[in-house]
Amino acid sequence: MCGIVGYIGNKNAVDILIDGLSKLEYRGYDSAGIALCLDNKLDIYKYKGRLKNLADNVLPMSLSANIGIGHTRWATHGEPSDINAHPHLSQSGQIAVIHNGIIENYAHLKEWLIDEHNITFQSETDTEVIAHLIEVFYEGDLLEAVYRAVRRMEGAYAIGVIAKDDPETLIAVRKDSPLIVGIGENENFIASDIPAILNYTRDVLLIENDEVVVLTKDKVQIYDSLEQEVERDIYKVTWDAAAAEKEGYQHFTIKEIHEQPKGLHDTLHLRLTDNANFKFKQIDISKEQFKQFNRIYIVACGTAYHAGLVGKRAIEKLAGVPVIVDVASEFRYSDPFIDDKTLFIAVSQSGETLDTLQSLRYAKKLGARILSIVNVVGSSVARDSDDVFYTWAGPEIGVASTKAYTTQLMAFYILALHFGRLNDTINNEDFFAWVEKLKTMEELCVESLTIKEQMQRISSECFNNENIFFMGRGIDVDVAFEASLKLKELSYINSFAIAAGELKHGTIALIEENTLVVALATQDTLYDKMVSNIREVKARGAYVVAIAQTGNTAIADVADEVLYIPKCDNLLAPLLSVIPMQYFAYYVALDRGNDVDKPRNLAKSVTVE
Ligand code: AGP
Repeated sequence: MCGIVGYIGNKNAVDILIDGLSKLEYRGYDSAGIALCLDNKLDIYKYKGRLKNLADNVLPMSLSANIGIGHTRWATHGEPSDINAHPHLSQSGQIAVIHNGIIENYAHLKEWLIDEHNITFQSETDTEVIAHLIEVFYEGDLLEAVYRAVRRMEGAYAIGVIAKDDPETLIAVRKDSPLIVGIGENENFIASDIPAILNYTRDVLLIENDEVVVLTKDKVQIYDSLEQEVERDIYKVTWDAAAAEKEGYQHFTIKEIHEQPKGLHDTLHLRLTDNANFKFKQIDISKEQFKQFNRIYIVACGTAYHAGLVGKRAIEKLAGVPVIVDVASEFRYSDPFIDDKTLFIAVSQSGETLDTLQSLRYAKKLGARILSIVNVVGSSVARDSDDVFYTWAGPEIGVASTKAYTTQLMAFYILALHFGRLNDTINNEDFFAWVEKLKTMEELCVESLTIKEQMQRISSECFNNENIFFMGRGIDVDVAFEASLKLKELSYINSFAIAAGELKHGTIALIEENTLVVALATQDTLYDKMVSNIREVKARGAYVVAIAQTGNTAIADVADEVLYIPKCDNLLAPLLSVIPMQYFAYYVALDRGNDVDKPRNLAKSVTVE
């Protein structure tokens, strides 16, 4: 998964490309490069490593060109290196290409290019195939050559193309990888994501699948899969450039943790009518349609999957329909019970996670109705869904998902209430009572964020632990899994999450003197059971940090440290209890000197299976 950007206009493309790439580095950062059309020649500058490496090499050269393309990479085919970095040049240097996605039939195309056209490949990438393919078909008409190449390509791709003989044209193509176009005054842009161009324009065109875009400095033409020109409304971006910047926070991750109250507010209130009912722009499941669903599947990856675990409890409790939650990378291979009486809910922050996308398409083929909970507007998961619930978390840049998780939880609470109404399992009085409770969560979230200092102190005392356990009962187990994932991906500590009642069946053997156990005990109905589980690990020498609702003070007698979250409904507690867990992962990672926003081995959205 990579980030692509392109510029055509009157300004110097070099600065604009490097600035744009700096806003896309969260998408992949193992190598970066740019291609410029200068004096009817294509010059490529690309280097292994962070974008800074490219900038340090290129900026001192004071290059200047009015058209160029840029790329920041997340390696899939060919390990990170200067040669495997993008852009890739065709054999005679006529065509330069940048690409995000995977060309699944590249090996076949490579063979054909070598056998039929004597092409010598420079890199191990699938992308280089595209550059040679376009050159083979190029007879002076770049658009025609791109069309002929695309017809032969299989897989997911967003590509940017320039040609040395056509310095007035930039072409881009989208298929199952994100691509937007920015409209400027006598200049136009392409990019994988909106933050890359926000410093230059707020007028954006969302490019559909299988569309080709031809950009000159004063015109943008979009062609559909039938090569017919199509019109597209401009999407005015409301959030400002700063939203993509850190606004004074040290890292995007801590900034996004603090943006959760706003995310909860927007996700709820943008759907609440004056009389406290819900209105959905892109969900129109009728009562009759909902009543014929006899099963709901929630399918996702990582943090989104953990939100699904909470979603299951909310939907089963409030709408009375059985829910199965599955990880997307397993779903299609587990012979799931899917038919036209199934509601399939896909959850994805980026909307581009390929495992989730392919699972969605699989369920759709089997007749399921597809509803997706997505944060990125216009992303592939949203496009392929029948109904879409957008979480208004704003851009999430930190690789570790935080505000997207809590807005996904809010989405599930809202959907569970809505389904309860459609299924006549919740009466008006209870419905409005729940809506009032949801309205209080923004404020309670603000209150929970004040726990920061206590978490900072606890993190500084135990960031050297190499094994940490998280345990809980009921809905707290779901949060324990999320807490453990956050700690693993940010601190690289080998942490483990488990249902507290399961410990005595084996895992407790791992508990010894000073083993750190984080016990989530926010559920009143399971409180006493959790207190006895804490006693069990204490008896083996564990150091216990407990999370409880304000007022449950008895736990302080058994735990070494207690973090209190504001009192709330048990079902809604994950919205608050996850916050000290996010802080814990962040500050432990900071104390261990890790790159919090760009953890090793990870990418913000995983577009490979
Ligand atoms: C979470 O912090 C990770 N970044 C990762 O597990 C993520 O949740 C997963 O890859 C799913 O991403 P998505 O929500 O964009 O589909």
